[in-house]
Amino acid sequence: MSLSSVKKAEEKHVLHTYDRLPVLLTHGKGVYLYDEDGKKYLDFLSGIGVMALGYSHPAITKVIKEQAGKLVHCSNLFYTEYPSALAQKLTKFSGLDRAFFSNSGTEAWEGALKIARVVASSKGLTKRTKFLALENSFHGRTMGSMATTFTEKYRKPFAPVMPGVTFVKFDDVEDLKKKFDDDVCAICIEPVQGEGGVHPVSPEFLNTARELTQKTGALLLLDEIQCGLGRTGKMFAFQHYDVKPDVVTLAKPLASGLPLGAILVTEEVAGAVHPGMHGTTFGGGPLACAVALEVLKVFEEEKILGHVKKVGGHFFKLLQKLGTRHDCVLDVRGLGLMAGLELESAEIAKAVQKAMLERKIIINRTHETVLRFLPPLIVTKEQVETVVEALDQVLSSCASSGEAAPVKKCGCRQRLPKTSVNGAK
Ligand SMILES: Cc1ncc(COP(=O)(O)O)c(C=O)c1O
Repeated sequence: MSLSSVKKAEEKHVLHTYDRLPVLLTHGKGVYLYDEDGKKYLDFLSGIGVMALGYSHPAITKVIKEQAGKLVHCSNLFYTEYPSALAQKLTKFSGLDRAFFSNSGTEAWEGALKIARVVASSKGLTKRTKFLALENSFHGRTMGSMATTFTEKYRKPFAPVMPGVTFVKFDDVEDLKKKFDDDVCAICIEPVQGEGGVHPVSPEFLNTARELTQKTGALLLLDEIQCGLGRTGKMFAFQHYDVKPDVVTLAKPLASGLPLGAILVTEEVAGAVHPGMHGTTFGGGPLACAVALEVLKVFEEEKILGHVKKVGGHFFKLLQKLGTRHDCVLDVRGLGLMAGLELESAEIAKAVQKAMLERKIIINRTHETVLRFLPPLIVTKEQVETVVEALDQVLSSCASSGEAAPVKKCGCRQRLPKTSVNGAK
């Protein structure tokens, strides 16, 4: 199979929802992906934050093989040993009390929205149906998730979306206070916005959201589908703050590439949920849960959190230095191994991404102008340095070549101190 024949077949038979990069991947090992010609790519995207332990991790591969030979699926009508074991681990790490397992991020978030509604209705608060979400949020593509997602292009073609969602200006405490009232059943926050351009929320904003919701009994829903499970250097991004949420959603890295999401809730919230209210055929199946258990075991054995703090801190410093060297870099943001470089224009960001791919380095562009880095959490200091060196060269040539829009002096050196520093507290 060649790239051109696969491309042709996709054009004819696959619903066109993705603009794929022109690479045909065949396998991966560690932090590297390989194409059909055996060319090796240094991967700083990890399948959009999924392959936290890298590709073909021996312990994960072993569990997939073993469990596939034992039991892949049997439905949620029966017990298997895995969901409770996984829930026990996730609740221990998070300080929440119970878990529900889904198949994807959007499903986890959709379930969280349903739970917020059911908590209000169980108290007889029938008017308490409103959600506050943030500008530039991303929570997924199903109807409720999409309704709480800010970017209009995701919602508009499918209108009318679920009503009752009000967007609050990102990190604007006054706007949050102004828009919060007794009819709000939940405030929805990604502690570090991912698709929106890698923006960590401030402690002040998160604290205010917690205080407001506590006053009325509304819920604080945190979406950690992208920023959770070690990505920021703590198991949960909210652990950088002094806040305990009512509900947290997880997905991407949970089962190392197998589809699995989770909703974690407090005991109080769990009290409003009863059998038959919510469910899924595949969610929490033995294969995905057995793999997720192994993921968490490897996290502990390989001391992934400490590694993320160390390598993430190094990466962030190098990116900041890079920002001071290139006028087209407007901002550097991040936490742990979730980092973003905001560039002056979408054209430059596109050109940089393309030039990096030509150098066999995979990075991502989100929110038009932001280069996003979500490497596997096992990435080394040397690999981080390789990427920053390549970026340094590429930024110089993209900014001066005709490929990108002409670069104006943007005064990034003045703007850099505004940067969200690696460590919210
Ligand atoms: C914060 C956040 N929430 C929800 C989702 C949706 O997850 P999924 O694509 O698994 O449905 C994503 C996906 O990028 C995300 O980043």
